[in-house]
Amino acid sequence: MAFLDVTNCTKNFGGLLAVNDVTFSVKEGELLGLIGPNGAGKTTMFNMISGVYKPTTGQIVYRGRFHIHALNTHRICHIGIARTYQVVKPFLNMTILKNVLVGAYFGKRGVLKRDATKIAQEVLEFTGLWERREEIAGSLNVPSRKRLEIARALATQPDLLLLDEVMAGLNPAETQKTMGLVKQIQERGVTIIMIEHVMQAVMGLSERIIVLNYGEIIAEGTPEEVANNPEVIKAYLGD
Ligand SMILES: Nc1ncnc2c1ncn2[C@@H]1O[C@H](COP(=O)(O)OP(=O)(O)OP(=O)(O)O)[C@@H](O)[C@H]1O
Ligand SMILES: [Mg+2]
Repeated sequence: MAFLDVTNCTKNFGGLLAVNDVTFSVKEGELLGLIGPNGAGKTTMFNMISGVYKPTTGQIVYRGRFHIHALNTHRICHIGIARTYQVVKPFLNMTILKNVLVGAYFGKRGVLKRDATKIAQEVLEFTGLWERREEIAGSLNVPSRKRLEIARALATQPDLLLLDEVMAGLNPAETQKTMGLVKQIQERGVTIIMIEHVMQAVMGLSERIIVLNYGEIIAEGTPEEVANNPEVIKAYLGD
């Protein structure tokens, strides 16, 4: 029994097999990279772990006792699983602070207003957004929206954080900054699964990487093992 156990998970959309009989586990405190070409099923996997979709078959068990596939999204958040969205979803008309307060209120523990404010401040300082807390989310550029997405997820006080392409669209300096942030989140004891196309980031941060292709796991190993795996190279570059 691991921190997270995904067993024989399959997700069908009509005739399309987005995730096909996937089995893997995640250790507590680990930073696991999840990579694969476009359409490989990575986000679908996150959608199942966070309860957005139920697996067609298979099961997902968290901490050995929570059967994720039987829980609603808000319950899954309460037991300590948070995610970011590949296509970021801020509350556009609300300030940065209020966006993060929403995370704090709906997060892991039933928090009081005073506590939520404290959590939000701490998270905003940690993510470098405190000075900008009164800016409206709709006015932010992509890198800032990505950061807000991380901040709101952190405000729920997760033990398992699912990051879906938080580096996409960032310049090299911003990528470095976000890599530092992800590392610090892990150092705080949060277990992380990171979907990422930015190879420098996923290779630099992950302890272990799982590669999906057409919904199936085609490789698993250290960044070096995966980068040198002929099947992985073929999946990315073709024959
Ligand atoms: N709600 C849905 N309805 C129908 N098909 C879907 C749905 N969500 C995903 N798919 C399909 O499932 C497959 C896997 O999609 P998914 O978004 O999981 O890929 P991904 O690995 O995250 O790709 P990317 O790197 O482009 O984000 C794709 O063919 C996609 O079109
Ligand atoms: Mg995706």
